[in-house]
Amino acid sequence: MAKPKRSSVSPFLQEFATQCNVFSIRGCDPRITVMNKRDKSIWEEYFDAHAPDYMDNSFTRATKDEVNFIIEELGLPGGNSILDVGCGTGRHSIELAKRGYIMTGVDISSGMLEEARKAAEVAGVGLNLVKSDAVQMVFDHKFDAAVCLCEGAFALLGESDDAYDHDMRILNNIAVALKPGAPFILETLNGLQKARHFNNDDVKNRKFDPLTLVETFTMELETPEGKRVFTLRERGYIASELILMMELNGFSVKHVWGGTAGNWRREIPDMDEIGILLVAHKTGGE
Ligand SMILES: C[S@@+](CC[C@H](N)C(=O)[O-])C[C@H]1O[C@@H](n2cnc3c(N)ncnc32)[C@H](O)[C@@H]1O
Repeated sequence: MAKPKRSSVSPFLQEFATQCNVFSIRGCDPRITVMNKRDKSIWEEYFDAHAPDYMDNSFTRATKDEVNFIIEELGLPGGNSILDVGCGTGRHSIELAKRGYIMTGVDISSGMLEEARKAAEVAGVGLNLVKSDAVQMVFDHKFDAAVCLCEGAFALLGESDDAYDHDMRILNNIAVALKPGAPFILETLNGLQKARHFNNDDVKNRKFDPLTLVETFTMELETPEGKRVFTLRERGYIASELILMMELNGFSVKHVWGGTAGNWRREIPDMDEIGILLVAHKTGGE
């Protein structure tokens, strides 16, 4: 697939705009396309507020190493197209674009996408940036690979999101967006760590749900309107459940490794490790 042109809306995006319920295309490059609209989710509001400071998180310093890891595991040369689900400030997408990959980043937060757009401009690379809830994303062409990193959209639940349905839909949408055989890397939250961290009082106080491994917690952030407390829900996973969910959505899992942001390793996850990383590929046809 040809690299998106830098100075005008690419044929891919023009097509995309007519077929995917696109609301606006910014006439700049890298550009942000809005695929679908729904009421703001709490994660969208949270990441909009966090966006200007996100790159201050210490784990972002490992981005180049993580991209080396991604390239080794995907096993694809530059020129291939990669979908980055929950791309955030585009830290992986930009580094991959620098190495010749054709990157499409999807994110629910305009604030994070705007940071990605600015950073890509500074880096001098073209990115297709799409504002969409990953639960609803649809593409009119297939990608050669996908990544969903540092949770991305996965495991981050809105107030009314169903703990099972949300992530199954995301996996299905990723599978549909990929070519047969395409590799996929998912980094998400380790349910064993959550189970070991919480106790029965936390269950009584609804901080932790032992049935779904969902944690409910608050985060305080400075927003343009002053300090705001966000109540957030995050889901943990055990490897066997993830493998099953992957299989139900047409993926075969090759590796399950420890994958806490900033510290990916090719070893089984530590019981107290925050993250877990899966390397898989799409098995069947369409
Ligand atoms: C922890 S950040 C990770 C960003 C990036 N992948 C990284 O490694 O730095 C999670 C990202 O997922 C996005 N996100 C959360 N829920 C989403 C959803 N349902 N659909 C699309 N993006 C979502 C957030 O806006 C945020 O940018």
